[in-house]
Amino acid sequence: MADSESRMPRHIVRLLLIFAIGGAIALIARILFQDKSYGRYGIYRGDAVAEIAADEPMYQGPGYCQSCHAERHAEWTAGIHKVVVCETCHGAAAKHPSAKAAVTVDLAGKSTRVRIAGERLEHIKLAIPADSVKLCTLCHEKMPGRPAAQKQIEVSSHAGGQQCIVCHNPHSPKIGAAGAQKAGKPGDAAAGRKKAAACAACHGAEGVSGNPEWPSLAGQQRGYLAGALLAYKSGARPDPMMSAQAKGLSEADIGDLAAFYSDASCKAAGSKSSAQLASAGKAKAAACASCHGAEGVSGNPAWPSLAGLQEAYLVNALKAYQSGARRNPMMAGLAKGLSEAEIGQLAAYYAGLKCK
Ligand code: HEC
Ligand code: HEC
Ligand code: HEC
Ligand code: HEC
Ligand code: HEC
Ligand code: HEC
Repeated sequence: MADSESRMPRHIVRLLLIFAIGGAIALIARILFQDKSYGRYGIYRGDAVAEIAADEPMYQGPGYCQSCHAERHAEWTAGIHKVVVCETCHGAAAKHPSAKAAVTVDLAGKSTRVRIAGERLEHIKLAIPADSVKLCTLCHEKMPGRPAAQKQIEVSSHAGGQQCIVCHNPHSPKIGAAGAQKAGKPGDAAAGRKKAAACAACHGAEGVSGNPEWPSLAGQQRGYLAGALLAYKSGARPDPMMSAQAKGLSEADIGDLAAFYSDASCKAAGSKSSAQLASAGKAKAAACASCHGAEGVSGNPAWPSLAGLQEAYLVNALKAYQSGARRNPMMAGLAKGLSEAEIGQLAAYYAGLKCK
């Protein structure tokens, strides 16, 4: 009886034997297969540390882009989108440009990527987002739960079917800020009246032009007038007649002239075209209202009012944006899609509107 109590039951012995065999197999497997670097730092493969460190990071950060895309980087840094880093929109730049077009060198102890001059550019291309509506609405489409601090828009009414980048520069999307700065110092309207004598032959004594192709200036936005004169002066807006006129103007002259004309009372040119043409234009003008005002009077001093301008002048201006003779990134995008007929309709509509 004592004997049978001291001996383990046979099924327990077999179980222990199975455990022992299992343990032995595990031990052999460990000796045969375990990486030598296991345990060097902790309970993981020590060599993995060096491998991960040698990996090129997927995301390089905006600083990386600066050396090769200085202009974009500067534009982005000055704008409101600097909270959105380059690679959020363009994708990870790990291999951009490729090793073929750039090398990593050690400069002052910091490893820096440098472009190889003359090397064929076989780099991995970064994507330029093809559909800006899809991209921008990710963050800006109106949603009930979205914090109001993140500016939101009703996509259909705000942009119509247009791409966001027609009007917004993705690298600095706030519209108007750039133009408003150009307005310069507020001028003196009385001094402007005297200086405007030189302009009267073409723009009328009180800024109301009698020529169908020459624009009236009376009642036009002050910032816009100043910006236009600066653009003629610098050559950014070349025109055979105005370039010569603006060349001799000082910044003070420009401020005074802009003050005089913007204060002058306007007189709508009126449209010679049919009411039908103008009403077709009214429907098309919905796309222009966000900048030129619902009734053609702009709410932004840097953007021109169109109400009551000369019909032929409006046609010429839109065609000039189309051909590139007159350059403005917003208007180029907007005018591109207009047909000759639509230009006529829009011009008829705006010419017939009451000015300010
Ligand atoms: C070492 C120089 C270098 C750096 C750094 C660099 N790029 Fe570029 N990138 C280039 C060159 C060169 C091109 C133009 C090559 C070509 O003609 O396609 C280019 C083109 C691009 C393009 C346009 C691609 C196209 O299809 O036209 C985008 C977008 C771009 N880079 C974004 C970035 C961003 C974002 C960064 C920073 C994360 C960056 N790049 C960093 C050299 C660089
Ligand atoms: C909010 C999204 C967004 C951000 C952030 C952004 N980009 Fe872009 N980028 C775009 C879009 C959209 C285009 C295409 C613009 C076009 O077709 O007019 C573009 C075009 C470009 C191009 C090629 C076209 C050209 O003008 O030569 C380069 C290069 C570029 N971006 C570099 C950068 C760099 C560098 C940064 C960061 C400093 C950056 N981008 C940040 C959206 C963005
Ligand atoms: C990853 C999210 C993100 C994407 C994508 C993005 N934005 Fe933005 N955007 C922001 C944030 C965040 C701000 C606000 C920055 C601030 O207020 O400091 C902003 C600001 C703006 C503003 C200025 C709003 C104001 O205060 O008046 C405009 C306009 C704008 N974005 C347009 C665009 C356009 C157009 C695109 C597409 C090319 C785009 N955004 C893509 C996040 C984004
Ligand atoms: C036809 C031109 C046009 C198009 C296209 C356009 N916008 Fe705008 N957007 C404007 C104007 C004008 C403003 C007002 C800017 C100002 O007052 O400085 C504005 C303002 C904004 C603002 C700031 C809104 C606020 O409450 O302050 C955001 C965000 C914005 N747009 C995003 C977009 C996005 C996203 C798209 C593409 C789906 C887009 N926009 C397409 C003209 C346009
Ligand atoms: C010889 C005729 C002539 C004289 C003199 C003249 N202008 Fe002009 N002006 C024009 C013409 C033509 C245009 C339209 C040019 C264009 O399409 O860019 C114009 C355009 C303008 C514009 C832009 C209007 C707009 O809506 O974009 C301004 C501002 C302007 N003139 C101011 C002046 C001032 C100030 C003077 C006097 C110092 C002056 N002009 C003298 C013929 C003249
Ligand atoms: C996103 C803002 C924006 C929208 C939308 C817009 N414009 Fe403009 N428009 C401008 C700006 C800014 C200027 C001044 C550009 C310059 O200095 O040449 C301008 C100038 C013009 C001029 C020249 C005015 C003059 O006095 O010389 C005409 C004409 C014009 N726009 C017509 C239109 C029409 C038509 C539409 C709609 C199809 C439209 N615009 C939509 C911003 C806009």
